[in-house]
Amino acid sequence: MKKRLVILLCVLLSFGAFAQKFDLAKTPPMGWNSWNKFGCKVNEKVVMKVADAMVSSGMQAAGYEYIVIDDCWQISRDKDGEIVVDKTRFPHGIKYLADYIHSKGLKFGIYTCAGTKTCAGRPGALGHEYQDARTYARWGVDYLKEDWCNTTTQDAKSSYTNMRDALFTAGRPIVLSLCEWGSNKPWEWAGPVGHLWRTTGDIRDSWDSMIHIVDLEKDLSKYAGPGHWNDPDMLEVGNGGMTIEEDKTHFSMWCMLAAPLMAGNDLENMSKETMGILTNANLIAVDQDSLGKQAICAREVAGYEIWIKPLVKEGKAVCLLNRSDEEKTVHIDFNYLLTENGDYWHKDKYELKDYYITDLWENIEAKMDKSGLSTVKIPPHSVKVYSFIKK
Ligand code: GLA
Repeated sequence: MKKRLVILLCVLLSFGAFAQKFDLAKTPPMGWNSWNKFGCKVNEKVVMKVADAMVSSGMQAAGYEYIVIDDCWQISRDKDGEIVVDKTRFPHGIKYLADYIHSKGLKFGIYTCAGTKTCAGRPGALGHEYQDARTYARWGVDYLKEDWCNTTTQDAKSSYTNMRDALFTAGRPIVLSLCEWGSNKPWEWAGPVGHLWRTTGDIRDSWDSMIHIVDLEKDLSKYAGPGHWNDPDMLEVGNGGMTIEEDKTHFSMWCMLAAPLMAGNDLENMSKETMGILTNANLIAVDQDSLGKQAICAREVAGYEIWIKPLVKEGKAVCLLNRSDEEKTVHIDFNYLLTENGDYWHKDKYELKDYYITDLWENIEAKMDKSGLSTVKIPPHSVKVYSFIKK
């Protein structure tokens, strides 16, 4: 009898953990993370200014909510093992910052590492998971990114599961973002563990790095869904290493991939173009679509690709990607785009007349002739993105 009760309690607890897990990231998380722009030079002032800018720039209204401090906020542990904040960078401590961020209606995230030390050599979480989770809950943390440096022989699944359980026990709902760079194929096991998992090594602010990451997502669509997302890494939009067209392509592809949208630029000093890209409501709606499907690459020929993302209510988003160095003239047959789903044809099921078809970057109805044909020029490293929404 006692045994049964214990089993029932365990089932209820794990169901509680699962229900909480699912609810926290029904659509891909959106926010900002300090690493891509500021690296270890992050500090209290930077984070507060970014929080202000997230509100004043319209990013909060566009759906961004998490402000995440990455590596380098921690400096040591005290005699009781409590994590010690780097007071030169964060003189008022972390709770002060969390309160400030919350006062703006935003949510607060922080970084740790599953190993003995973080990637920048600061104290890691190993052996302190439950203690740290309690501290994070006390500070008001809403999102935890857990890295994978200095883990030697640790097992990834059990290390991350341990942190998941520690967070659950701490009693505050906290999104868990796994950052083990895809090395242990987290998409195969992390669904019940975290809300998102990095699929690759670190992004760099260049076209080659960004497009290489896109290639690595090609076989992963089936693993993403509400509550559990593939994470191709944080955005480099606005950091200067790519042209505006390339930044638009980067953002479009992340939205097609149902990727978490964590801006990685200096929000306080961004250009109008960067702000326009990051807050584009049409593209964000594709990313945040409640069906939660990641796009598949349906066609690839000589530097030209067609990506398709199913949307709710028999809708879809289609991205025509010119990844070559030359302009491409593309003859589009919208009938084909509507009926092709990558893995099979719905030849007779759908008809163009039943759909609103929008060119998402132009924000206009897509142009085509009576038979649904159109010719467009796509500049190098650029995209055309369309949505098909049922009338
Ligand atoms: C790793 C992660 C990055 C960043 C740094 C911080 O490289 O993949 O995203 O968090 O560590 O040191």
